[in-house]
Amino acid sequence: MKKSLLVTGGAGYIGSHTVLDLLEQNYEVVIVDDLSNSSKKVIDTIKKISQKEDSLFFYQLDLKEYAKLEKVFEEHHFDGVIHFAGYKAVGESVMNPLMYYENNFFSTINLLKLMKKYKVFNFVFSSSATVYKNVPEMPFHEENPLGAANPYGRTKQFIEQILKDLSYSDDHWKIICLRYFNPLGADKSGDLGEDPNGVPNNLVPYIAQVAVGKLSHLNVFGTDYDTPDGTCIRDYVHVNDLAYGHRKALEFIFSQDKGLYEAINLGSGRGYSVFDILHSFEEVVGKAIPYKVTDRRPGDIARSLADISKADQLLGFKPRSDIKEMCQDTWRWQKKHPNGFSEE
Ligand code: NAD
Ligand code: UD1
Repeated sequence: MKKSLLVTGGAGYIGSHTVLDLLEQNYEVVIVDDLSNSSKKVIDTIKKISQKEDSLFFYQLDLKEYAKLEKVFEEHHFDGVIHFAGYKAVGESVMNPLMYYENNFFSTINLLKLMKKYKVFNFVFSSSATVYKNVPEMPFHEENPLGAANPYGRTKQFIEQILKDLSYSDDHWKIICLRYFNPLGADKSGDLGEDPNGVPNNLVPYIAQVAVGKLSHLNVFGTDYDTPDGTCIRDYVHVNDLAYGHRKALEFIFSQDKGLYEAINLGSGRGYSVFDILHSFEEVVGKAIPYKVTDRRPGDIARSLADISKADQLLGFKPRSDIKEMCQDTWRWQKKHPNGFSEE
């Protein structure tokens, strides 16, 4: 019999790609998403690409509404849960911390209470590289000290702690927190990808919008970092590799008899500078992408790189896409859907 999974935030960027992967692997998927940062069109697109309409269920609801969420648990038996839902914009979390603490905590608490009530103990949580304290030594290893520097990051760090406490309290729980580094790329169809609200904050969506003519130029935030070309270095990982990492995490959980709690990095294990990404994108697009060098962005760190050996050893996770493929796939999506899901 097919295993059934609840995927919260499954209409979002990483969630939607993970749902596609899970449907391809013959899971039944129930998406719960309030569409606060996504579109109903994502659900239609997943159905179209996967051709697995019968295995996909969608509920538009806010996880903070306990009674409505309970109805979903009454209607379905779940073998596991992947929890992507949450707010994720660092700057917005600094301006409006209560909104972030309320949404990310209350949603998670409701979900965990219902999982406990309905005896669903298999859980994969979207954490982030932002939980790490900034230290000069790279790469970040899972045992590194934590010290998120903003409210968004602190929601991730505190939720990890809640999950650890939960796993100590009852050894039925099998919990994996996946700490993502910098996701990019899109589904090969070019019909599913990242669709940021307004002007993008992140590098690659910004470059893609310059390339397609929606923005005039990229602002390169500082060329005076202590790196080979003076710009910051990040660990970029294809969103499809993240999707596959979630599947591997679930398979690991299902293979274990005893309770477990693990935090695991998901990245590519390779670092690229802002100029590396810009030039790789120019190669894919086949034209120069205008840019201006500006001051540093407050809060940016020179390097962020993942040690992915734990993901390999425990989950058998090996990233499959290189930076060129990530840029090609992002570009295919951006070119085909310059206005994302709001175009039609
Ligand atoms: P996203 O915003 O595209 O997806 C999140 C989804 O959750 C959205 O569809 C949104 O509508 C939904 N949502 C938010 N609050 C909800 C609520 N209360 N009830 C129901 N649905 C709700 O984000 P993403 O980039 O796909 O990220 C997914 C997860 O991964 C997030 O938790 C994010 O913090 C984490 N993460 C993302 C990145 C990144 O760079 N994208 C990096 C590290 C961690
Ligand atoms: C951002 C988030 C982080 C999140 C991560 C994953 C902040 C402060 N941090 O980190 O919480 O986990 O995304 O996606 O928002 N850059 C430019 N010009 C731009 C945009 C970015 O030069 O217009 C540079 C930045 O200075 C940085 C690099 O590009 O050096 C990557 O930036 P970005 O995509 O925003 O990711 P992070 O800073 O790693």
